Amino acid sequence: MSCKTKIIAIAGGSGSGKTTFARRLDQHFGQCSRILLQDSYYIDQSAKFDFDGGSVNFDHPSALDFDLLATHLEELKNGKTIDVPIYDFATHSRQKEVEKFDPCELVLVDGILILSQEQLLPHFDINIYVDAHEDLRFDRRLRRDVEERGRTEEGVRNQFFKQVKPMHDQFVEPSKGHAHHIVDPENFDEMLEKMIDLLS
Ligand SMILES: Nc1ncnc2c1ncn2[C@@H]1O[C@H](COP(=O)(O)OP(=O)(O)OP(=O)(O)O)[C@@H](O)[C@H]1O
Ligand SMILES: [Mg+2]
Repeated sequence: MSCKTKIIAIAGGSGSGKTTFARRLDQHFGQCSRILLQDSYYIDQSAKFDFDGGSVNFDHPSALDFDLLATHLEELKNGKTIDVPIYDFATHSRQKEVEKFDPCELVLVDGILILSQEQLLPHFDINIYVDAHEDLRFDRRLRRDVEERGRTEEGVRNQFFKQVKPMHDQFVEPSKGHAHHIVDPENFDEMLEKMIDLLS
């Protein structure tokens, strides 16, 4: 692997398998790679948040500070360490502390909306879109949010059909057009091997 920083976008709908794919790549490349999460760039929503699926639409690009993410990607390319914000999902707020993120050979950027943002596209060397059918994504999200985040089935369902799905259809799905590689549940392991070969 060359010394220059490569930035890989791993986009796709919620529950499609982005984080799983990013972690598998990260495990393979070990010290040479690091995962940067789009979700760290949420704007502080604590003043606006009322209830899940309410006033704050976490799936709309305006909920995120993509200007800061673009600046950070440029800084990483220039070999600089960045200060990644820490977003607290329990209080919907940005913490005072930041997390240092050192430049490395392979930066894996994981996020639903990253390929929908024109200003981010020039920074990505390879664009991956993880594609999965809406039914599968909904089932996975329902299980995760109920089992791991203590949410009710009704709350998860409301948020999915009021916000997650419309934003997916408007912003996420059309961004697939920017992908160089499409991963889906059928070719997941095969694509993982292919990406490992490509990046090695
Ligand atoms: N190829 C796969 N085969 C089986 N299960 C998978 C696969 N990929 C992902 N999963 C499972 O699906 C669930 C969602 O995957 P993951 O968390 O990677 O999605 P995501 O795209 O990161 O979602 P989000 O945008 O909500 O963070 C997880 O429980 C994960 O273990
Ligand atoms: Mg994820």
